[in-house]
Amino acid sequence: MRGRSLLDLDDLTSDETTYILHRATAFAARPPARELLRGVCVVNLFFEPSTRTYTSFSIAEQRVGADVVALPPGTSSLGKGETLADTALTLAAMGVRVIVTRHPESGFPYRLADSFSGHVINAGDGSHAHPTQALLDLLTIWTEFGRIEGLRVALVGDVLHSRVARSNIIGLRRLGADVTLVGPPTLVPDTMAGGGVTVTRDLDAILPAMDVVMLLRIQRERTTSAVLPSLGDYARNYRVGAERLAALNARAIVLHPGPYNRGVELTEDVLGFAGWRYAQQVSHGVFIRMAVLDFLVNGRVT
Ligand code: NCD
Repeated sequence: MRGRSLLDLDDLTSDETTYILHRATAFAARPPARELLRGVCVVNLFFEPSTRTYTSFSIAEQRVGADVVALPPGTSSLGKGETLADTALTLAAMGVRVIVTRHPESGFPYRLADSFSGHVINAGDGSHAHPTQALLDLLTIWTEFGRIEGLRVALVGDVLHSRVARSNIIGLRRLGADVTLVGPPTLVPDTMAGGGVTVTRDLDAILPAMDVVMLLRIQRERTTSAVLPSLGDYARNYRVGAERLAALNARAIVLHPGPYNRGVELTEDVLGFAGWRYAQQVSHGVFIRMAVLDFLVNGRVT
């Protein structure tokens, strides 16, 4: 039987999502008492550069006691013409139970999951999805406010090409947040509105009402210059600096999945802002990934 995979957040019910948040919180408070993935072999198959996500998964895998193999793309036989299905079969025959993968092609982890008998975790596919990033963002918001329901969350910038935004929209809506997407029409098309998601061009108008402001990097590697605004225009309308921080309500927090570009989507003022939660996001990432590995391999503990 094929194992359960996490390819995007719509693979989880809201109940399961909340379960993972609770479990990650418990892991943060106290390391798991036993090696939850003892004897389970996990392969990290990353075809795109990654600092945070790769390291975070590797640490999480070790903390739950898995046997970890890193397979850099240059060393896999996919480059020699082996099909993905045959690579999946080969890894499964060696006893690999979990593949964590990142790939520039949207949908790659879905193709892999179709031919792999174990569990696939999507660590980012093209501009499509990045479910563990969205879970760690949800955990950061939930830790801050004690709930997600009813919170007002703005996602600012290159929403169109952002897998982080796409997965966050699913998770935030599922747990009852109000989501506002903010940016120019080329990066935030009107068609993204609907189902509890609002689109606006005017960041300054909405800032005072927001509980959470999530800034996004412009995904130059996934787009053509035709849709990119001039950096001057972008900064004027969407870059967050001292003035925009001053417009936020006192309890609001600012998030960024990283890597952030100083001077583009934010200024250095954000890095010193009391509500800047970037470091918490990164540290929550390890606990979320431990909780996801445990949930997929061992199932739910009630
Ligand atoms: C993001 C990614 O790679 O999708 N980074 C991350 O995983 N923390 C966001 C980005 O590259 O802008």
